[in-house]
Amino acid sequence: MQGRILVVDDVEVNRELLHNMLKDDYVVEMAGNGEEAMQKLLRHKEDIAAILLDLQMPGKDGFAVIREIKEKGWLDRIPVLIISSERAVDVENRCLSMGVSDFIHKPFEASTVKNRVKNTVELFAWKNRLEQEVERQTETLKQQSQIIKRQAEQLKGAEAFHTLMMQYRCAIMEVETKLKVLNEAFSREYKRNPFESIKSRLKTYDSIYEKLRRKGYPVTLENIEEHLADVAGVRVICSFPDDIYRLARLLINQDDIILLKQKDYIKNPKENGYRSLHLIISIPIFLSNEKKFRKVEVQFRTIAMDFWASLEHKLKYKKYVENAEEIVEQLRICADSIEILDYQMQDIRDKIDRHSD
Ligand code: GTP
Ligand code: MG
Repeated sequence: MQGRILVVDDVEVNRELLHNMLKDDYVVEMAGNGEEAMQKLLRHKEDIAAILLDLQMPGKDGFAVIREIKEKGWLDRIPVLIISSERAVDVENRCLSMGVSDFIHKPFEASTVKNRVKNTVELFAWKNRLEQEVERQTETLKQQSQIIKRQAEQLKGAEAFHTLMMQYRCAIMEVETKLKVLNEAFSREYKRNPFESIKSRLKTYDSIYEKLRRKGYPVTLENIEEHLADVAGVRVICSFPDDIYRLARLLINQDDIILLKQKDYIKNPKENGYRSLHLIISIPIFLSNEKKFRKVEVQFRTIAMDFWASLEHKLKYKKYVENAEEIVEQLRICADSIEILDYQMQDIRDKIDRHSD
């Protein structure tokens, strides 16, 4: 589609000259003074691609037209090119500071006029398209994030959400009880406690929201149940590596527990040196009128591995740490030393146990 150009000049010969230069590429509208120009602009403002504007005209002159266009907020969208015999630098500067796009001096040269108009029209068309696109995308994003926020807010206050959290709390209690029972039985058999301590935590609402968002799922009860395995978390701190495996086996072997996933970061430590045994289990909880299976993430580590993990965790959540690379390397070396130490302690324990009766 051809763009529309508005030529504003009080001298008819000038208008005709410009008309002839531009008529092959554009629909050319013409105005003989400022008032006429404003009327044409009002009528065609949506599809005017550029205004070629003379400065000196009887009545409303070029400056008055620029001011009015600017006041109406059209100057951001429609480029104005001044056509003038004025050579004074201060006049040119004044126009440019008012926001006009270009200055074409009389007498006109056809190819210069054509090229300058074409460049300016293309530049503005591109700028306008880009602005519209950005506006459209910003609006869509705003709407989407408002919907997600609203849904999440609704969920946070919803009874069903608190019921689900209560179920996860119960699942934690079930696992803790099972571990405590095992502690009793194990200590009778092995004459020592299989674990030093248990730490449990329920994931906070904010952290549930963040994790689901990171994974690309809307925050709904179904998605919490389906896509989060660590809403309920139990950490078991043992003294020795072999206790970890014994205890984990005893837990998994219980016939009401379903093992969904196992990650052995002790046999296969992470790049950074992290060692722990992770189980994702599904455990039944018995409510007043139903039985529900809930997921619990159980992490087993030795005291030394736990000590290491809390220090490393601090590093992970710090935004800026000096010599971070060096610290990462030191931590990795420490993790290796901890492994050696853990097994040495286990050997010593075995030797003591052998001679203890
Ligand atoms: P997350 O999204 O962090 O839960 O990881 P994931 O779903 O891939 O499971 P993974 O079994 O790797 O990790 C589960 C949890 O173990 C984490 O949330 C942490 O609590 C802990 N963890 C895993 N890797 C590291 C680690 O490198 N350093 C520390 N300090 N903790 C870790
Ligand atoms: Mg996690």
